[in-house]
Amino acid sequence: MKTILATVDNKQPEQKWIKQAADILKNGGLVAFPTETVYGLGANGLDACACKKIYEAKGRPSDNPLILHIAEKKDLYTIVKEVPQKAEKLMNAFWPGPLTMIFQKEDCVPYEITGGFSTVAVRFPSHTVAQAIIKASGLPIAAPSANSSGKPSPTKASHVIFDLNGKIDMIIDGGNAEFGLESTIIDVSEEIPTLLRPGAITKEMIENVIGQIEIDPTILTKPSQNLVPKAPGMKYTHYSPKADVILVQGNDLSIVQQNINHFVERELQLSKKVGILATDQTKQYYDCGIVLSLGNRENLEEIGSNLFKHLRKFDFLGVDIVYSETVPEKGEGLAIMNRLQKAAGYKIINV
Ligand code: TXA
Ligand code: MG
Repeated sequence: MKTILATVDNKQPEQKWIKQAADILKNGGLVAFPTETVYGLGANGLDACACKKIYEAKGRPSDNPLILHIAEKKDLYTIVKEVPQKAEKLMNAFWPGPLTMIFQKEDCVPYEITGGFSTVAVRFPSHTVAQAIIKASGLPIAAPSANSSGKPSPTKASHVIFDLNGKIDMIIDGGNAEFGLESTIIDVSEEIPTLLRPGAITKEMIENVIGQIEIDPTILTKPSQNLVPKAPGMKYTHYSPKADVILVQGNDLSIVQQNINHFVERELQLSKKVGILATDQTKQYYDCGIVLSLGNRENLEEIGSNLFKHLRKFDFLGVDIVYSETVPEKGEGLAIMNRLQKAAGYKIINV
C-alpha cells in the first residue's frame, strides 16, 4: 500500500488534507494524526472491520481495547450508557486534553474495539489537527498510539513513518506532540474511580476535583498472574527500545552518577555500545557512552516530552544497553517512572 504523507500547519491545518483524511476514515481506512499526547492511528470507531485493520497494522493483540476520540463533549452521550457525576466534573476540568475516561459502553460501540469489555475508553483531545479530523469525519475515531505494538509511542511523524509506512492509508505530520506521554486513564465506571495509567493530568490534579481515587497497583509494580492491570495494554512489560534498559535509582545523585559511570565502563570493556539517559543537571558528569539529556530535573513536563524520542534515538544509533537515571514518583514523575519501568522490564538497581 502507498501511504499518503501530508504536512500540515498544526494551528491552521489546510482543509484539503483534513477533508482527505476524513474521507479515508469514512470509507473504512486508517489515518495517523498528531494529538497533544502522542500520534494516534485512527479508524472509524463504530466500524469493527475498519478497527480490525488497526490491530493488523500495529500487530496489536485483539484483547487490547481502543480509545474512542471525540471532538465535542455532547458526542460522549451517544457512545456511553451513563456519565457519572464525578466524570462530568473531570470533563469540565480537563477536556479537551490528555485525560481518557472509561464508561459503560452504549450498544452502538462494537465489542471488537473494547476487547470484549462492556466498557469503553473515551478521550477529547485538545490538538487542533486531531479535532479538525474528528469533526470533519463526523465519527468517533478509535485511535491507539501510532506505533508498532511493543515500541515506544510516536511523538513525531518520522516515528510513525518508520513503524507504519506502507501499512496505512495516510500519515498527517503536524509537528512534535506536546506532552510526549500517552493520556492519563481513569476508570469512572465504578463508584470509586481508579487511575489505570498515569499521564500529564496527575493523580493530584484529579483528586483536587473529585476527591480521593484508587490507583491500579500495577502502575509501579511488575504485573503478574496475581496482579493483572485493569487496562489490558498495561500488562505488556516490553514497551521498549531494542536496547536493554536498566534504571539506576538512589537518593544521592552523585552516587547514581558514579555507579552509572562504573557500569558503563564495564559494558564498554565487553565491547557493548552504551547509552545514558541523563538530565541537564547531570549530563556533564558522564565520562563515556552516548549521553542524551531528558531535560531539566525541575521540569518534569520537559522530561516526559523527551522520553520516547530518546528511547527511539538509542535504537536508531544501535545502542545495546541504556542506563537511565530516575525521577521522584510525584506529579508527572509517576507517569515518567511508569513508562521507564516498562521500558526497563522493571530492571532497577538501587544504589
Ligand atoms: O494519549 C493517548 O491516549 C493516545 C492518543 C493517540 O490519544 N492513545 C493511546 O492509545 O495511548 P493506546 O491504545 O496506545 O492505549 C490505550 C490504553 C491501553 O492500555 C488499553 O488497554 C486501555 O487504554 N483501554 C482501552 N479501553 C479500555 C477499557 N474499556 N478498559 C480498560 N482499559 C482500556
Ligand atoms: Mg499504545
